[in-house]
Amino acid sequence: MQLFLDSTDTAVIADLAATGLVDGVTTNPSLIAKSGRPMLEVIAEICGLVEGPVSAEVAAVDAEGMLAEGRKLASVAENVVVKVPLTRDGLIAVRDFAAEGIMTNVTLCFSATQALMAAKAGATFVSPFVGRLDDHGADGMELIHEIRTIYDNYDFDTDILAASIRNPAHVKAAAIAGADCSTIPPGVFADLIKHPLTDKGLEQFMSDWAKTGQSIL
Ligand code: G3P
Repeated sequence: MQLFLDSTDTAVIADLAATGLVDGVTTNPSLIAKSGRPMLEVIAEICGLVEGPVSAEVAAVDAEGMLAEGRKLASVAENVVVKVPLTRDGLIAVRDFAAEGIMTNVTLCFSATQALMAAKAGATFVSPFVGRLDDHGADGMELIHEIRTIYDNYDFDTDILAASIRNPAHVKAAAIAGADCSTIPPGVFADLIKHPLTDKGLEQFMSDWAKTGQSIL
């Protein structure tokens, strides 16, 4: 499974990228607004921090506007993925981006039929929003299972990018469901490594080792 960070905080991205476990980054207009920085500047910086795909979302809602904005975003760096909403115009733009060799991430996906249409349009990634479905009393992870089944049935190339992740359990469930990637808030990403029994066991190992008076070096 590829693990992406869902963030525009370049200091945090750099810190976690140092683990070598960050495969890419996703952003969205809300995260760009939260950064308080010019979009092209922060996207360029992020593209320099990670080698993998960096999703940058268009602001236009019409296909022609998306194409113009997307081509500009794609020119920022080779690892830019142009993010478009899962709408009629978004899918029309995806077809043109695919023909031009520009990677795409179709976002705000909330149904299996939407994901089917994104794959038919030639999307590189589709982003089903697990957490927001859960927030509305639906089963967000069931959507990941449905999309996996459909994509495998017809051998679609589009990668399932589980998004709107709220906790490590979402990452585990998405991995079991067969998502190709998860995009994860930095705090949740750090929590993937942690377990209290690991901390307790290590403390005991260190205490017992200290009693030996030995040194390995
Ligand atoms: O950036 C895409 C998605 O992960 C955002 O989800 O629900 O945390 O805003 P959310």
